[in-house]
Amino acid sequence: RNSQLSTMSTVNNVNNGNCQQWQLLTVSFSVLSNKMKEIGKIIDLSQKQTDEGLCTHVESLVGVPFDIKRAYWIYDVPKGESRGGHAHKRLRQVIIAVKGSFIVNLDDGHQKKQYLLDCPDKGLLIDTKIWRTLDDFSEGAVCLVLASELYDPDDYLYDYNDFIEYIHHV
Ligand code: TYD
Repeated sequence: RNSQLSTMSTVNNVNNGNCQQWQLLTVSFSVLSNKMKEIGKIIDLSQKQTDEGLCTHVESLVGVPFDIKRAYWIYDVPKGESRGGHAHKRLRQVIIAVKGSFIVNLDDGHQKKQYLLDCPDKGLLIDTKIWRTLDDFSEGAVCLVLASELYDPDDYLYDYNDFIEYIHHV
């Protein structure tokens, strides 16, 4: 079946104060009849407002549904550059646009979903075995990643074909 003809897309706008998040879902008709696994999930993070400004905080298993073992942040991404381009075998993560905006493209091998992240009080939960790329970084954007595992190069699938083979054999 021609995959170009067997997909449909929906756009979901999520207005949140000054944020203009949106989600774009592209689903293959071949998986519509099956129970679809959620591909990415937006998590509301707690936000405390005082006269002195805003504060958003998370803890292991509070706001983030796993034990946070590692945090890293991506910044100074040159215009037009793309990050990611891999999937993880065991690692789960939450991605937060703590400053600026960028697009996260997710692919579980059956369906693709794009998220615009531009809210410091929203996190995008990405499960294991999801191919992701991040692009369209605004100038000065900072991407905070909270991860369920320590850094382990063996947990990465860097080749898309290896990823597809992996998800069909585990
Ligand atoms: P990488 O995961 O490839 O970045 P991205 O997926 O966001 O494009 O990481 C870039 C480099 O940093 C790579 O050489 C691995 C190294 N790195 C660590 O040493 N520890 C870490 O926790 C992370 C995330 C990356």
